[in-house]
Amino acid sequence: MENEFDIDGLVDTENGVISRELFVNRDLFDRELDRVFARAWLLVGHEGLVPNPDDYFVSRMGKDSVILTRNRQGEILVLLNSCPHRGMKVCRYDQGNAPVFTCPYHGWSFSTNRERVDSPGALVGVPRFEEGYSGQLDREKWGLPRCPNVVNYKGSIWASWDPDAPAFEDYLGDMKLYLDTALDHRDGTPGGSEILGGVQKWRVRCNWKTVSENFAGDLYHEVSHISANLAEIGMTKGKGRREALPLRYAIGFDGLGHGGLGFPPSYEERPFEPGLYGDPEIDDYFRDIHAARVRNLGDRLRVGIVVGTIFPNMSFHADQPRSLLFAHPVSATEVELWRMYLVDADAPQSVKNMLRQYYLRYSGPGGMTEADDIENWTSVTTASEGAIARRYGFNYQLGLGKEQPVEGLRGAVQSGHYSEGNARIYYRRWAQFMKGDSWADMMPGRSDDR
Ligand code: FES
Ligand SMILES: [Fe+2]
Repeated sequence: MENEFDIDGLVDTENGVISRELFVNRDLFDRELDRVFARAWLLVGHEGLVPNPDDYFVSRMGKDSVILTRNRQGEILVLLNSCPHRGMKVCRYDQGNAPVFTCPYHGWSFSTNRERVDSPGALVGVPRFEEGYSGQLDREKWGLPRCPNVVNYKGSIWASWDPDAPAFEDYLGDMKLYLDTALDHRDGTPGGSEILGGVQKWRVRCNWKTVSENFAGDLYHEVSHISANLAEIGMTKGKGRREALPLRYAIGFDGLGHGGLGFPPSYEERPFEPGLYGDPEIDDYFRDIHAARVRNLGDRLRVGIVVGTIFPNMSFHADQPRSLLFAHPVSATEVELWRMYLVDADAPQSVKNMLRQYYLRYSGPGGMTEADDIENWTSVTTASEGAIARRYGFNYQLGLGKEQPVEGLRGAVQSGHYSEGNARIYYRRWAQFMKGDSWADMMPGRSDDR
């Protein structure tokens, strides 16, 4: 069934009106799986989830279950977690260690290492092989499909199923500088972060884009978090959600779809604002790490960001709490959220403990701000599913026409502190994917040498 959609009619970013169909329509959702999730670069995990040979972590790309694993040759692989024989999940655990996955249904087995086969994921064991298949099956063809593009970017693992996908760094563009803020060490050196604890997973009855759009730059919904601001959930357990911050700008990357609430590039570090943690070791840590950051970054360009989204469904917090969020699509009206929390690997245990408690007060299903938004997003969805409600588009006119280029960042625009400019950019990108535009049209000017 090829149900044609008038995508431009659904997404009118010139006038700032977006159809509610994007958030409730099942046919549109099915098309997203094919046109967005089977093409875009998606976050699949973090190297810290698979530190040792044969470690695996079961992740998702769209609705496809995938196995992220590190083999004995040190390669990081992403394999489809669906048996080529009849589709059974070959791995039914969340995480573990195994060199071979044996399908529980009829017993086919697949090796991730190159010791037994040339191609990781190939079929290595078949019950009744001689008797049933005369000892002949193409072991590569009937192996687990392997994702062709996998990148380890400062510990975060990304993948795309599209063999023609642009290089990951081209896909990120200058949004990379903002993502770095989440992934780098607090002292400004590249990488150096680890995952604190496990991965939190929970489901929300709303469309996946509702979440990604919010984290792309919705400062306007601050009224929702008044109760969290009044409670003492800040890092130092003072009033407020986080330590004092200047007002942020919605900075978006038109033509790429990414955006966040951050600060324009600058050559100077923001001044250190000491918080009192009631623990000298923690106080010293934050003072020292700030001094090291000023030293390490010197007069280099730096950016700051609080929260952002990489198109289509990865969001991050970068300025305490620090975390990576996946918004996995489940249905047109349900999303599965996974959050991983980051911390400097060499931070003292007292700092890690303090941050763990703070992150959980703030984020995740039990965190105060995330709980506010879960309530918002669920109600947005149930109140938009009715036949009448679906006739009325949503208003995305905040800051419309105020977009200005951001000096020092390719393709970036900002339109004030309170703006839906990033959401408009996000849905323009979504429309390009949904119309099936070619990469050549979607990435003008990218270098073709990969
Ligand atoms: S479904 Fe996996 S062996 Fe049959
Ligand atoms: Fe929020």
